[in-house]
Amino acid sequence: MPLVYFQTFGCQMNVADSDELRRKLISHGFSETDSTTNADLIVVNTCSVRQNAENKALARITEFARIKKTQCQLWVTGCMAQRLGDTLKKTIPGISLVIGAKEIDNLDTIINDHLIAGTFFNSESHSNASSISDFVTVMRGCNNYCAYCIVPYVRGDERSIPSKDIEDSIKSRISDGVKEITLLGQNVNSYNDNGTDFSDLLVRVASIDGLKRLRFTTSHPKDCSEKLIRTVAEIPLCCHHFHLPVQAGSDRVLSLMNRKYTPSDYMNRIDMIRKYLPDADITTDILVGFPTETDKEFEQTLSLVKNVRYTTAFMFAYSMREGTVASRMTDDIPKTEKLHRLNRLIETQTSITKEIYDSMIGKTIEVMINGRQEKREQFWMGQDNGCKRVLIPCENVQSGMIFKCTVIRSSGMTLIGEIQE
Ligand code: 5AD
Ligand code: SF4
Repeated sequence: MPLVYFQTFGCQMNVADSDELRRKLISHGFSETDSTTNADLIVVNTCSVRQNAENKALARITEFARIKKTQCQLWVTGCMAQRLGDTLKKTIPGISLVIGAKEIDNLDTIINDHLIAGTFFNSESHSNASSISDFVTVMRGCNNYCAYCIVPYVRGDERSIPSKDIEDSIKSRISDGVKEITLLGQNVNSYNDNGTDFSDLLVRVASIDGLKRLRFTTSHPKDCSEKLIRTVAEIPLCCHHFHLPVQAGSDRVLSLMNRKYTPSDYMNRIDMIRKYLPDADITTDILVGFPTETDKEFEQTLSLVKNVRYTTAFMFAYSMREGTVASRMTDDIPKTEKLHRLNRLIETQTSITKEIYDSMIGKTIEVMINGRQEKREQFWMGQDNGCKRVLIPCENVQSGMIFKCTVIRSSGMTLIGEIQE
């Protein structure tokens, strides 16, 4: 049986794409291996969102090309594969195939064309779904063209996956043991399948038998609607978590970024979420050091962060991406200044995260168990109904179970819970 090794960089969308390729390869007779030495196929799924991400992927691909068995194929997929195309193959000769992010819709044809007939054929199909929680992509691509972002160029125009296909795919994952689904899209709020919008989709998905928890990401603040927030509040299965990337706290910078909302529009969304779901976890993405961002404008980002009180945030220093609108502006903030701003932001957010986690002590939360903690076997890991990580010291539980727990401790970024009798 041929063996495939996967290395995935980047966002959850990439994780979901790797899962899709993995399922297809398994249905072509492959098994997954966690070692490159015995692999017949190595897949590196790449990310282009920042230069750093590309550098990391390039280093790994070069290493794999050097160490792999001669007959082992090396496939490079994802956003960097789309952006650099066959140039990659010329730079790193060991690469057998480059599959760009836009080609993800044609995986079946690509696999058939590139796996040598007879060698990799007709083995039994195996399902390797052992995880309790899985991602399902509901839309691909993006039409928003935020000035700094490479995604619309490498992933193409927005397209919604038919709701029937989404429901079928979720049913099949549930029959493999999955209990929690996260619906994925760059901007789930513009989902539209012949009039079925994202809120309608949530209602339909929530009625699927056997599903215990439903999550989604990402919502663009410009079109996170009251209908969506109300729907989340009304569906008991829906977790109380909104990932609402703000990017910046200054009106001028947001406008340069082409985000299409002002800080006050954004705060109105936050207020609406808090009105319907006072206990919701709100998380975000923030980018510092966008071209021309002043100290004062950065301070506005800090004060927005203090006002919203995010549970956690993904924070980045601006990285110029060739071909974007921002790449035509001068990248005028020195690297040291970007890092200085980033560190101040991280410091501010880390202490808010700690305060939020600490304030949970004594409260009752509902935790879904995701698996054992690898390092400390007596602990099980889980997640509350928002996005908070929870550790539970206990025996005799299984992944997928949901318990009411009392929070007994907080480490500032993890809760320790005790199952209530
Ligand atoms: N530089 C830095 N961060 C970026 N992001 C997207 N493009 C860039 C860039 N050029 C961040 C944004 C986005 C997240 C996925 O990555 O914050 O929400
Ligand atoms: Fe990039 Fe903006 Fe689309 Fe998000 S919404 S993927 S930041 S262009």
